[in-house]
Amino acid sequence: MLEIKHLSKTYKTKHNEVYALKDINLSIQDKGMVFILGKSGSGKSTLLNVLGGLDSFDEGEISICGKSSKDFKQSDFDSYRNTFIGFIFQEYNVMNNFTVKENIALALQLQGKKADDTQIQEILEEVDLSGLGNRKPNELSGGQLQRVAIARALIKHPEIIMADEPTGALDSHTGKQVLDTLKKLSKDKLVLIVSHDKEFAKNYADRIIELADGQVISDTSKERAAPARSKNGVSIVENEFINISNVEMLKEEDYQTIMEEIRKHKGEMMISFHKDTNKEMKKINHIAENGEMEVFHDTKEKHIHTKGYDGASISFIKSKLPLKSSLKLALSNLKLKPFRLFMTVLLSVVSFTLFGLSDTMAKYDRGVATFHSMKDSQVNYI
Ligand SMILES: Nc1ncnc2c1ncn2[C@@H]1O[C@H](COP(=O)(O)OP(=O)(O)OP(=O)(O)O)[C@@H](O)[C@H]1O
Ligand SMILES: [Mg+2]
Repeated sequence: MLEIKHLSKTYKTKHNEVYALKDINLSIQDKGMVFILGKSGSGKSTLLNVLGGLDSFDEGEISICGKSSKDFKQSDFDSYRNTFIGFIFQEYNVMNNFTVKENIALALQLQGKKADDTQIQEILEEVDLSGLGNRKPNELSGGQLQRVAIARALIKHPEIIMADEPTGALDSHTGKQVLDTLKKLSKDKLVLIVSHDKEFAKNYADRIIELADGQVISDTSKERAAPARSKNGVSIVENEFINISNVEMLKEEDYQTIMEEIRKHKGEMMISFHKDTNKEMKKINHIAENGEMEVFHDTKEKHIHTKGYDGASISFIKSKLPLKSSLKLALSNLKLKPFRLFMTVLLSVVSFTLFGLSDTMAKYDRGVATFHSMKDSQVNYI
């Protein structure tokens, strides 16, 4: 769906230049959960913002469904952002003056469409927020607020959901709930998530792209690896675990295999007889009953499923906002910053008064003023 070729971006500051992205080449599939991992400052947000049309880039090319960014006008980028992408940010970015329903409806109004109540109810159900439609954001928890942001993104039926640290402000349990919701959505759309949480990425991602200093340093995709041996209930899983499903079934040759495996490894190892521990170990390490294990291997073409686009079928809708909503938005902004509003009014009054005064003084002519004053006082001679 997204094709990125030789993408570079530099930030020029007063003293130096910062290479935020350096020659990035990626091809991103149509569906699934793709994590962009990396340390702080590695370029994750810059990459997401550039891919979402929120930020510009200096060199290279991005193709969206086969249409090259070289053929994009600025208005195409606006429309791409508006129709194709649903954004989710760490700070939720919901409008505090609007109810949950109104927040969601606003996303549709931006596309010039009217929000239909049943549609909003369906989306609220999808993100487990049914019954909370009439609440204001300050009556919701962090996890619920993030799900409002997801609902707002979803109502547009975007092809891609882009989320920058969507769990950054949440505790681990609530973070998991938000990721569960996003995982559900990734069954039929692309969900691109920026994160620095490797554990979350390993548990949820279908693909992990890791950045360091603006460059891709690893790109791996999840696969189900069959065990190296699976006989008489003994499985050797990815050279890391020996799984014995039933000790009573073991034969002499199996004991030999197990001993050989143990001898191969140095240092500490554990043999657990505890049922619950074994269950937990399998869960944590993503090992299925048949000994298959979910592992990340270098991303190859076979992992990148796309429909094969020609760029012709893609169409974007222009952004529009009805006057009523624009006014409400503007007013809510003013309400949010009362000090700024007060200062703006005060400065406007002072500057208009000064303007009036200087204009009057510039036009002041002593002779004419004396003449008018004498005329008004009916003084005909001096
Ligand atoms: N507006 C800007 N002006 C100058 N430099 C910037 C600007 N925005 C980002 N950078 C620099 O570009 C690099 C990449 O920044 P980016 O925000 O993409 O990192 P990140 O991986 O998202 O980090 P974090 O995990 O802290 O959010 C950093 O070195 C950063 O200092
Ligand atoms: Mg960032």
